[in-house]
Amino acid sequence: MGKDLREILSFYKGDRSNLIPILQDIQANFGYLPENAILEISKFTKIPESEIYGVATFYAQFRFTPIGKKHIMVCEGTACHVKGADQIMEGIERYLDIKEGETTPDLECSLESVACLGCCALAPCAMVNEKVESNLTLKDIKKLFSKNSK
Ligand code: FES
Repeated sequence: MGKDLREILSFYKGDRSNLIPILQDIQANFGYLPENAILEISKFTKIPESEIYGVATFYAQFRFTPIGKKHIMVCEGTACHVKGADQIMEGIERYLDIKEGETTPDLECSLESVACLGCCALAPCAMVNEKVESNLTLKDIKKLFSKNSK
């Protein structure tokens, strides 16, 4: 991991206007916004924790749980939706026993949706880490999580 929390905060003066850049820096460094980071930001900026959570939850870019080693993004764009993206998402949720936006307790997998992966002709699609998986069916779900797939 890169910088620690104190190092990140030391780049700022603690003004209210610093809140979003601080949140972005922390997420870029840790991959998410840890609970203790919110507390430290609150002390540093004098912004109540509840307000910081309010701001952070407003923006889709911020997350409060770490990303799993395997980051699955199921496309829910129009083409994929028409070709059954909802069933793929539900199938993966069942397989991993988590919901969209969550990470498995062992931090192995996290599941999110994405608007369009840019390969609509191959719908339905998902991206697993950097790799696009296309023409998915429910039968493919197990393969997405086999040991050899990255
Ligand atoms: S809608 Fe899924 S790749 Fe475009």
